[in-house]
Amino acid sequence: MEQGWSLREAIDYYKGRNAPQDQQALVALLREVQEHSDGTIPAAALDEIADALKLKKTFLSAVVKRFPSLRTEEAPHLLEMCGGERCRKRGCRELHRYVEDAFQVKSGGVSKRGGFQFKVTGCMKNCPNGPSLKWDGTLYSGADQQLIQKLIDDK
Ligand code: FES
Repeated sequence: MEQGWSLREAIDYYKGRNAPQDQQALVALLREVQEHSDGTIPAAALDEIADALKLKKTFLSAVVKRFPSLRTEEAPHLLEMCGGERCRKRGCRELHRYVEDAFQVKSGGVSKRGGFQFKVTGCMKNCPNGPSLKWDGTLYSGADQQLIQKLIDDK
């Protein structure tokens, strides 16, 4: 975590702005923690926030999952790949297999090697431009191995 910034002070500040009752304030706190922690929210910080705001850790984890831009140490990034029929015709299955083999991860799991969570989803409503994927919630068209490798390398 960055020097000159204190998790305790950030928690107190957002408590004063009605977190956790106001979910926007809670998400703003999580974003601030992430920004001050090299782009991922440390597990210890999640524990401290849960304790200080009297929240269940499962609730906090659910909030983090709902916002793909929030990243934790366990799952710093989220790779979602379309498994819909039209993308399948465009070769998405081969891409799924590539991800599974190259990064040793199955859908629903976390790749320790690549540092991302992997999910095969339903249609992303981008069929004419498939294969479709989302990286941290941003949609990409015409996905191929090079794109996947670049997203993972650039993270
Ligand atoms: S089937 Fe992939 S975007 Fe529709």
